[in-house]
Amino acid sequence: MADRVLVVDDEQSLRKVLAATLQREGYEVQVASDGEEAIVALDRDGADVVVTDLVMPKMDGLSLLRKVVARHPDVPVIVVTAHGKIDSAVEAMKAGAFDFVTKPFEHAELKAIIAKAARQSDLNARNVVPEEGHKFTEIVGRGQRMVELQQVIAKVADAPSTVLIQGESGTGKELVATALHEKSSRREEPFIKINCAAIPRELVEAELFGFEKGAFTGAVQSKPGRFELADGGTLFLDEIGEIPLEMQVKLLRAIQESEFERVGGVRSTRVKVRLVAATSRDLSKEVAAGRFREDLFYRLNVVPIQLPPLRERREDIRLLVEHFRQKYNARLKKSVERVEDEALAALSAYSWPGNIRELENVLERTILFVEGPVIRAADLPASLRVQAQPGEGAPPTTAPSAPGSLKEIVREQVQAIERDLIVRGLEVTGGNVTRTAKLLKISRKSLQMKMKEFGLRGDEQ
Ligand SMILES: Nc1ncnc2c1ncn2[C@@H]1O[C@H](COP(=O)(O)OP(=O)(O)OP(=O)(O)O)[C@@H](O)[C@H]1O
Ligand SMILES: [Mg+2]
Repeated sequence: MADRVLVVDDEQSLRKVLAATLQREGYEVQVASDGEEAIVALDRDGADVVVTDLVMPKMDGLSLLRKVVARHPDVPVIVVTAHGKIDSAVEAMKAGAFDFVTKPFEHAELKAIIAKAARQSDLNARNVVPEEGHKFTEIVGRGQRMVELQQVIAKVADAPSTVLIQGESGTGKELVATALHEKSSRREEPFIKINCAAIPRELVEAELFGFEKGAFTGAVQSKPGRFELADGGTLFLDEIGEIPLEMQVKLLRAIQESEFERVGGVRSTRVKVRLVAATSRDLSKEVAAGRFREDLFYRLNVVPIQLPPLRERREDIRLLVEHFRQKYNARLKKSVERVEDEALAALSAYSWPGNIRELENVLERTILFVEGPVIRAADLPASLRVQAQPGEGAPPTTAPSAPGSLKEIVREQVQAIERDLIVRGLEVTGGNVTRTAKLLKISRKSLQMKMKEFGLRGDEQ
């Protein structure tokens, strides 16, 4: 099914061009000439993404944005701001816009943002039950290390000092960064994230500090960077260990002097930003290896927070399981009442290399597929059961049909698990291939190929 974009602009020509461009990209497009018309269309037909101009007669873009945030919180809104109206872009971001582009924009830029917004919209539609509110940003854990963590967060949330969060992947670094913002008096101000690992090195500077028109090819309009957007609030520098060495100098200066220049700019900009940085690398080792500047490390490491891997705080697994049981019951509209002891034992014994994120994913899937009100050991992924009970070993989903090489047996087992998951997915979605593909987080095409391979007939939807 094509993603649906609602384009809102009072200029007919712009609407037309945009609609045509997006249709060529495979989107289904609806148009409206002002906010009032847009909200009527949205209430009536819904949409996956809204792209709106800011200055329009009747209801303007900002009022529309506020209405969409209130009434359709799942629908990302991209605002188009006029040249030189950076304030309004910042205001829109604070009001909950997904992102913004400045006019005149390049279609490629807008298309990339729309694609990102459509993906987010997809996730929102599948997962988020709005009434959950902030309940699930709670940091769960009563073990000693988690209690200490809570104390540190409470103590430093309101301080201006930079916090450096270190921990393996999936240990909750982003969650802690969010908590630091939400528990501070800046909570009404922007919380801006930037993932340093996800940005091409040549764009890091422009993303952080913004750029002026003409600074490089493609810079048809000036744009503020994340530092500016975060003014008054918190800037979360995720995966800081990935930032190129040459950028580290500029970052250090910006932190020390609270000011910087946009790329291609001459004027310095001053901001007041609380910095929180995170990394899954051991930064002191990076320093020793010459990949991370020592001065920047000390500047960031004012308040260090080290998150323990889950295998070092197994005492919290029960609580986390309970937390995710409630979370995914609500999100997936299921009513799993409890987790059997044997299953809990397996969950507690596993090594969790992917930490809490892995535990969360396992529970999401298990809750999605489980049929009755109880999660039993047999409902857990095979990998977990096998590791949990060395020696005895849980009965595999199917016994190897004939003695074969290790490789063959593994392949057979993997296929059996895949087939099983697909069958259950199809059951949950009533045989809808598109929705099953989304559930299993694979493309529709590969799902169809696998269904064919396993002799599962799919009704085309
Ligand atoms: N103590 C906790 N209580 C409840 N949920 C948690 C806790 N820690 C982490 N989570 C959840 O686990 C998931 C992963 O956490 P998060 O994204 O913060 O980890 P991360 O360290 O940033 O991971 P990565 O290095 O992969 O980016 C999130 O859904 C988060 O809400
Ligand atoms: Mg993270």
